[in-house]
Order: sequence, then structure tokens, then C-alpha cells
Amino acid sequence: MTGFFTEDNSAAAVNARIGEQADARLALVMSALVRHLHAFAKEVELTPAEWEAGIAFLTQTGQICSAERQEFILLSDTLGLSMLVDAINNRRPDGATENTVFGPFHVADAPVRAMGDTISLDGKGEPCRYQGRVLDMDGAPIAGASIDVWCDNADGFYDVQQPGIQPKWNNRGIFITGADGAYEFIGIKPVSYPIPDDGPVGRMLAALGRHPYRPAHMHYLVTAPGYQKLVTHTFVGGDPYLESDTVFGVKQSLVAPFEPDSTGRAAWHSPFDFVLVAEDSGKD
Ligand code: BEZ
Ligand code: FE
Repeated sequence: MTGFFTEDNSAAAVNARIGEQADARLALVMSALVRHLHAFAKEVELTPAEWEAGIAFLTQTGQICSAERQEFILLSDTLGLSMLVDAINNRRPDGATENTVFGPFHVADAPVRAMGDTISLDGKGEPCRYQGRVLDMDGAPIAGASIDVWCDNADGFYDVQQPGIQPKWNNRGIFITGADGAYEFIGIKPVSYPIPDDGPVGRMLAALGRHPYRPAHMHYLVTAPGYQKLVTHTFVGGDPYLESDTVFGVKQSLVAPFEPDSTGRAAWHSPFDFVLVAEDSGKD
């Protein structure tokens, strides 16, 4: 019996109401959430006006959500929560390629393209040859790996942000490795771009003196039977936003070389190998 609600026992009073029949994990997560929420309000001595502003902000965040726009994920991304959840759940041994944020612009079932094909369909941007191998932790090639890639166009927009302006599937494609684990495709050198900032999250960033930009990157979803799923990017070295990515997605190991291409097939060449961890090796 915790007694009536007081300022001092507030979190305990709320958590004491969780019933015996509640799912154990739900009870653990919710009681920790209540403890931290109450500790936060106490730490800042939250005023009614601030509480109302917070409720209004969350209401607007929900109201702008649609089938095409998920403002709550954008909020989680810009608060660093998405990257924290990703880090907690994707601890990998040294040498394995690191994960980073998935982002909202992946589209399932992109066209499967022949190795070496181009993914750039709008004729814009500086052509770049992406090439490397998918390897296991022993350096052996992984055959039959699926490399699903996507990036923005030279104007800083994904095809799904500009239907009717960009060709469908512009700067997207899936490549399947052969026995040598190798992949190669022609894309463009991506450019840095702002995340959608015309809603409550954009207003929050502006109020905090934060910019909405992500450094230039190519997205990858690499999967192979028997291996942990890899959700990652490669970043363009030297990008001015590398150290201030608005969603905290940059890791040093993911900054890839972008050098002049000696084959004459593209202006740039970006080599990068992906190293996958076996499913049964555990995540820790
Ligand atoms: C992206 O890289 O596509 C992205 C990630 C998080 C929020 C917005 C965009
Ligand atoms: Fe992106």
C-alpha cells in the first residue's frame, strides 16, 4: 500500500496500480517509463504552460502523420532514440559492418538489377561506381546475398518525395551476389539533404538552434540466409554535415572512399565491403 498520491511518492503510486495479470515485460517497460517521466518533471520543475506546450507538440506530431509521413519516427530519430535502440539491439564483434538508422524512405520490392547496372534513372548527378564484396567474419565471400540500395537524387530528394517528377525507382535497386560475393552498380555521388522539416519536428529543431541536414549517404539493406540483417549506409567523406548529422547516424567505419574512377565508367568510384555476422553467433 503506497497511500495517496504525493509529490514524493508519485511514480510509486502510479506503478502500484499495475495489475498482477499484466504482461511482465510491459510492466517492466511501463514502470521504468513512469519513473523516468516523473523524475524528468521533478528535475525541471515542469510548469503547467510547459506541460500544455508539450501536449500540443505531441498532438501536432500525431496529426501530421499519414501513410506517407511518420513524424513520431522523425522525432525519435532527431532525439537520438532511434540510433540508441539500434545500438542496443545490434551489438556486433569488431570487424563486422556496423548498423545505422533505417530511415523512412526505403521502399520494399525494388527492381532486382543485373550486376553492374545503373540505379540512376533521371540523368542527374555525378555518376559513381559502387563496388565491393559481401563477406563473412572469416573473410569468405557470401553468395546469394541481397543488397538493396537507395539514395537521394542530385537535388536532395528521394523518388518517393517527388512522384511525377522523378522516375519511379530512381536511385534504387536490388543486387544479388554470385559465388565471389562481389557487387557492383552505377549510381550517383549522393548529396546532403534536410529531413522533412516543415512540421513540428522541424520547428523543434529550429527552436533548439539545430539544422535539419543529413550528410550525403547511400543506404544499404544487406541480407543473406543464415546471417544477421545489416541496415546501414556509406557516407561521403568530407561532407560538411558528417559531425552534425541531425539523426546521429554517422559512424567512422561507415565513411567510405569516394575517389576518381579509373575505369572511365563513372566520375567516381566508391569501394566498400560488407561483413555480416552469422545468425547463430548471438548479438552480444
Ligand atoms: C534517411 O536517411 O533517409 C532518413 C533517416 C532518418 C530520418 C529521415 C531520413
Ligand atoms: Fe537517407
